[in-house]
Amino acid sequence: MTKFIINNIYKTLPNGYSGQNYVINYKNSLYTVKKYKNIGNLFIAKNEYNALMKLNKYFPTADFPKPFKLILKNSEPWINNNFLLYDYINGSDSRYLINLFEKYQYHINYHNLIKPNLTTPDDQNLIININNQIFINNLIKLIKKYILDIAKLIEICHSIGLTHLDIKPENILLSNILPNFFKEYKTIKYDNLLYIINQLYLIDFGFVHPIKYNNKELIKINKRVGTIKYVSPEMLAKTYNCTSDIFSLGKILDEIIISTNFFLKHNNQLDNARSLCNDMLIENPLHRMTITDVINNKWLNNTL
Ligand SMILES: Nc1ncnc2c1ncn2[C@@H]1O[C@H](COP(=O)(O)OP(=O)(O)O)[C@@H](O)[C@H]1O
Ligand SMILES: [Mg+2]
Repeated sequence: MTKFIINNIYKTLPNGYSGQNYVINYKNSLYTVKKYKNIGNLFIAKNEYNALMKLNKYFPTADFPKPFKLILKNSEPWINNNFLLYDYINGSDSRYLINLFEKYQYHINYHNLIKPNLTTPDDQNLIININNQIFINNLIKLIKKYILDIAKLIEICHSIGLTHLDIKPENILLSNILPNFFKEYKTIKYDNLLYIINQLYLIDFGFVHPIKYNNKELIKINKRVGTIKYVSPEMLAKTYNCTSDIFSLGKILDEIIISTNFFLKHNNQLDNARSLCNDMLIENPLHRMTITDVINNKWLNNTL
């Protein structure tokens, strides 16, 4: 099997925490292979495999990578063969979306402060876009859709007693990105903006832990998990509860608010966005919002 993978590598994906991902071509279809770095990570592999099997059993049509099938004859594949095989999602991880927001804001600042006289046609196109009310409305709709879609995927996990514990842009994949979208962000037409996230996928279930749905009781863990930039305070203290994923989602929203500040302010949406974000980032996990509170949030559900 190792030979099979090496012989059919189509491309290499960004490095993650637990190992290396490749895209392989197998019988004219593309699959992702996650190859775990070392024996120490095998418990992550097993954890991820079990979580995906459970999710796929209860939600066969939901949007997380299917473990597809493990083409291994071994009864405990993660022990002798340290990799998992997934459906390949053709798109990009959502760090790109946040980078895109940052670029818009950067250009606004640049033009407003440093270079008020537009020079190139590209510059002019950008300013036409960013000053266009429909463009701004769509951008805000896009932000809400992105946060709400992630929240719905978290809800699916929580509803079957699993908490993800590593929610971050790199673990959320976007498919159906317009061709060359990110290269040509300067000239993107405002009405195309909403197609960026036709489909959103949650991946990377290596840190999944059990919870009782909407039960805020703190549970101990023996090892720190998560990613430092997005991790909740209780997880740093080796505990978690059903609101730990919400803190991470709050960190993502915080990043987005910072990088779209101009647009939110322009549409009088900044206070509502900030207030939701602050509620998700409440330090005490016993007082923080649950996933049900997030999904029912008025601002997220209100389409301008
Ligand atoms: N099924 C997939 N389809 C496309 N790209 C993927 C897929 N799974 C992972 N990737 C890419 O590989 C990166 C690392 O994968 P991930 O499962 O998050 O591993 P790690 O646990 O090492 O972080 C992701 O951020 C994403 O860019
Ligand atoms: Mg990851």
